[in-house]
Amino acid sequence: MAAILAAIAVLSSSAGEKIEKSPLYKDASQPIAVRVNDLLGRMTLDEKIGQTNQRSVAVGMHDLGGWVPQFEQGHIGSIMNVSSPQVADSIQRIMLNKSRLGIPVLIARDVIHGYKTIFPIPLGQAATFNPDIARKGARVAATEASSDGIRWTFAPMLDIARDARWGRIAEGCGEDPYLTGQMGQAMVEGFQGGLAGDPTSLAACAKHFVAYGAAEGGRDYNSTFVPERVLRQTYLPPFRQAIDAGALTIMASFNDNDGIPVSANRHLLTDILRGEWKFPGFVVSDCFAVRELISHGVAADAADASRQTMNAGLDMEMETGHYLETMRGLIENGHVSEARLDSAVAAILYVKFAMGLFEDPFVHTPQSVKYSAEHLAAAKEAALQSAILLKNENNTLPLKPNRINRILLTGPLADARYDQLGTWIFDGEKEHTVTLRHGLDELCRKKGIAMDFVESLKYTRHDNLSGIDAAVTAARNADAIVVAVGEEAIFSGEGHCMASLNLVGRQSELVERLSATGKPVVMVVMAGRPLTIKPEIDRSAAVLYAFHPGTMGGPALADLLLGVTSPSGKTPVTFPLTTGQVPIYYNHNNTGRPANGTEIGLDGIPEDAGNTFLGCTSYYLDAGHKPMYPFGYGLSYGCFEYSDLKLSAGEYGKDQTIKARITVANNGTMDATETVQLYVRDHVASVTRPVKELKQFRRVPLRKGEKQTIEFELPVSELSYIGADLRPRIDSGDFTLFIGGNSETTLSAIFSIK
Ligand code: NOJ
Repeated sequence: MAAILAAIAVLSSSAGEKIEKSPLYKDASQPIAVRVNDLLGRMTLDEKIGQTNQRSVAVGMHDLGGWVPQFEQGHIGSIMNVSSPQVADSIQRIMLNKSRLGIPVLIARDVIHGYKTIFPIPLGQAATFNPDIARKGARVAATEASSDGIRWTFAPMLDIARDARWGRIAEGCGEDPYLTGQMGQAMVEGFQGGLAGDPTSLAACAKHFVAYGAAEGGRDYNSTFVPERVLRQTYLPPFRQAIDAGALTIMASFNDNDGIPVSANRHLLTDILRGEWKFPGFVVSDCFAVRELISHGVAADAADASRQTMNAGLDMEMETGHYLETMRGLIENGHVSEARLDSAVAAILYVKFAMGLFEDPFVHTPQSVKYSAEHLAAAKEAALQSAILLKNENNTLPLKPNRINRILLTGPLADARYDQLGTWIFDGEKEHTVTLRHGLDELCRKKGIAMDFVESLKYTRHDNLSGIDAAVTAARNADAIVVAVGEEAIFSGEGHCMASLNLVGRQSELVERLSATGKPVVMVVMAGRPLTIKPEIDRSAAVLYAFHPGTMGGPALADLLLGVTSPSGKTPVTFPLTTGQVPIYYNHNNTGRPANGTEIGLDGIPEDAGNTFLGCTSYYLDAGHKPMYPFGYGLSYGCFEYSDLKLSAGEYGKDQTIKARITVANNGTMDATETVQLYVRDHVASVTRPVKELKQFRRVPLRKGEKQTIEFELPVSELSYIGADLRPRIDSGDFTLFIGGNSETTLSAIFSIK
């Protein structure tokens, strides 16, 4: 940023007198850098500090009241939680007409997986393995939010999460950097739309930078200990991809990594973001995070915290007003240079110019976009593609009218208008949710199937044995039982972590008693994370995992249950067998003693075993090393068979592209879509490498009986990894390329790099 400013200083000073008559910064035909520099040159110190100050108001904020003077004096750069077009417009009117320089404010809000029309939680969207779904979801959210004056969202969340106890696993795209990068990029594109001149554009904020998902013990806000090489290999790439896709802002994460709170980490916020990646936008703190340096025990007071964070590269401060209160003193005392403040302000102004807010910050999106038919249809499609069929014994699903006359629907998530929406839906309205009960009831009527609904448990923690009795009684008349269990929305999201991933309350008992009736049980799970539900899966004939599917989850699940559409979701995270296995993820390093299938379980240990050798490989005596379901797993109503994996060559140069062909056939009796996944393993490298890494994927729709040969093109450059010297490198030698329907595929071919 400093370099840009220096370069354009010449330009602006040579404009001389002319600037005074018609300020360059108001001339939209000028390059942004010129406008930024011109405006910066006109700002007082207090106006500059004002730009770094983000405040929050009560949601809706119908009365500007006490805030007017702060707006007029330019003491606010961004305001959070306004969600009213009238208020938004009045704020911008004050900024444009009454503040000295007419700098618009950025109106921000957490618009995460929908504004009014709620899409599946991001983890559910990731299960679609379909960036178009994520792009469309973000576009719908942006359009609806912009109708209430919002122009900046704190999304997408790109935190890699390998521990399902962490409540915020729901908000991200799972455990894989490649999948997260692809989905994150699409979300950035969707939120940001056309930017300048597009009144529906929202500036995206890639968060939380960085490693926040590695919170120790899966407990939110906890410390992380991620070494630089792993940061660069696993946690940073999705952020780089988001920035390359044009993400205008970044949020620093709450965690301290190896002892340094990220908000005060100059290496991350300046050396990497600005120095290496040339990020032109700005970095915002997380909520109260500047003040929290005091709680972390690395700052003595607000001024000390502001000094450290500003000097580290944190440009805008959320909520506490510490920059506003302390920055003048810090600059006067020489603790922060005015040049550093200038670079923060320049980055903030850059974003406002890039969005075209100086030309037109007003609301132009009509209210009618909310819950439009197009938006609801997109939300339904997302829910359809995000549900994962985990089990389907004896083709229990789809439920067919010729076999099933009467269905019993029960369970605490069957008619849960709020919980179906999931975490982080500030503006979602449960009145608009179409629940599984309503969706299934409507479709059953069309198909001539009778449906009974018995609530059994009102919510997941409900202790209602008579409700379970009632469901069991009703089950006797049914040909199939659909039981919707899982988690309430409040169990996941920020600060909502769980020490156990089992079903809470009496849900397990509900499934057990229903299963004891001998009727086929179809378990539908709505949750913010993978749950450890092996006993309940064992008691069910079929299992559909829907995460929290959003506003249109009900009709989507009904379509899947009755076979209007085939499920196509794939697990975006490894599903553990038991909570004690976490963190568990498919792309782990091999170790010197990998589990090799000869593990001895508890029952295999002889009595009085003494110090018996039990294999000494990397596994648990009581839980082995295999998860419940691997990453990338999901069934469908089709039956996919893979054959004829062929590579274009046996050996490639470092600047070449590997071409891999595979034939996929749907030998089932229904049309379905398969997500074909390509993984690579590096045999010998300079550091230990993951056993497998996802490199590409493609959703392939195949009609029953159809066969297709598909081709992947993988540039060898994408085999690069971060070596011991922290630099990217590609080694010569052998690699295995795998293609299949999940990360445990063994269909493979070997190639080498010269
Ligand atoms: C705290 C959360 O960590 C962050 O994700 C969110 O955007 C901010 N609060 C603002 O609500």
